[in-house]
Parts: sequence; C-alpha cells; structure tokens
Amino acid sequence: MVVYLVGAGPGDPELITVKAIKALEKADVVIYDRLANEKILKYAKGAKLIYVGKKAGEHYKSQEEINQILVEEANNNEVVVRLKGGDPFVFGRGGEEVITLSEEKIPVEIIPGVTSAIGVPTTIGLPVTHRGISTSLTIVTGHEDPTKPEKQVKWDYTADTIIVLMGIGQIKENTDALMKYRDPKTPVCVIENGTTPQEKIIMGTLENISYKDVKPPALLIIGEVVDVFKQIKEIND
Ligand SMILES: C[S@@+](CC[C@H](N)C(=O)[O-])C[C@H]1O[C@@H](n2cnc3c(N)ncnc32)[C@H](O)[C@@H]1O
Repeated sequence: MVVYLVGAGPGDPELITVKAIKALEKADVVIYDRLANEKILKYAKGAKLIYVGKKAGEHYKSQEEINQILVEEANNNEVVVRLKGGDPFVFGRGGEEVITLSEEKIPVEIIPGVTSAIGVPTTIGLPVTHRGISTSLTIVTGHEDPTKPEKQVKWDYTADTIIVLMGIGQIKENTDALMKYRDPKTPVCVIENGTTPQEKIIMGTLENISYKDVKPPALLIIGEVVDVFKQIKEIND
C-alpha cells in the first residue's frame, strides 16, 4: 500500500510532472480537489475517483473527513493518489495529511507540483525576482484561519515581492494593512484563473486594486517586479 501526495499544477493540464502522470497511471483510487484540472484524471484510467474539493466559505468535506477517507482508501487499496492543485505543501494542507498517514504507518510519497504562486506569474511573463529590483519574495495567505487565537499574518513583510494567495475575499482589508508598510502607489498585478483559457490579468496599485473587478481563484503580485512585466509587455507589443 502507498499514498502518493501529488501536486497537479496551477490549471493548465500540461503543467503536471511526468512523475505525477506515472503515479496516476498506477492508481486504484484518486482523491482530488476542485482546483486540480479534471482533464488530468484521464491518466487514471479505471481508478475510483473521489471528489473532496473545497470552495472558499463552503466546505464540501472537512479536513478531518478527508484524512479519514485517505486512511480508509489506503487500507483497502494498493495505490492511492491524493491529487491537489498547485503544490501540495503550498497552502494545500498536505502536511496535515502526511502526518495523519504517517501516524497510521501508511507509506507516503510526495510529488511536488508547479505552485500557482510562481507558475501563474511566470506563465504570463512576470518574473517574481529580478536582478536589481527584487531579491526576495514572500508568499502569504490573504485568508488566515479566523479561528486562530492570534493572527500570524501581520503584513509587515520586508521582501521585495509579495504574492498573496486566497486574497480576493479580503482584498480591501489586506491592501489597507499592506499600505501601513508600503507606498500606496506600489504596483499590483492580479491574475485570475492563471494558465487556463479563462485567465484574466488586472493591473493596479495597492491603493486602487480593491476597487477593480477581481474574482477568485486569483492571486496578487505586489512590488516593482510588476513594472518589469509591463516593460516586457511593451517591448513585445
Ligand atoms: C488553497 S490555495 C492552494 C494553492 C496551491 N496548493 C498551489 O500551490 O498553487 C488556493 C489559492 O491558490 C491560488 N490559485 C490557485 N490556482 C490558481 C490559478 N490558476 N490562478 C490564480 N490563482 C490560483 C488562489 O489564490 C487560490 O485562492
């Protein structure tokens, strides 16, 4: 018995790894999330498919229920694939699933995926670091677990580039908090549905981006690298 914890990449089904395809081809069961492009499931011919996707504010299955399904399926099958959008360890709760399986002495192999945090900006031609402009980046959640006794996200990050995932629902609160530490004119790029045919790019600044029409799933890239993207676009247009 083995569980492969697999990153499916950010949306474009061609951004999955060869290793992930090989695991899917061997799978007896695939337990998958909403953000994993469903076209990827074609590699798991004949496998039982279990959807456990989640949407913001609307939990189809709790994490505890998912953990339980994982253990049950692992105990009853040779090869289980747990497929997640992007990379399983970037805001994917993959760590919690590995802990649960390890406690049950179930072997786990982890196959990384292209995280949306980097793959999505890279696909449009937005470099998240750039010599002379950005030597560091922070990837942060824009929707911290509201049940935490104390907030961990304080928005006082010093990295040159900030990438916010799950940040659309609270975009106004988050950009207001960031403006306590950064120039309101700092450039911002929002990418919706990156690497898919529905991809949309919205440009702005910290002070105006929350007034624009932006919808999830999307991420924000904040910092001078957004101007590098504009420069590259101008050269190509
Ligand atoms: C729960 S997190 C999971 C991230 C995932 N593990 C990863 O590495 O990309 C979901 C968030 O990722 C971002 N996201 C995922 N896919 C995206 C895409 N194709 N375009 C833009 N943002 C995306 C959004 O911010 C979304 O709210």
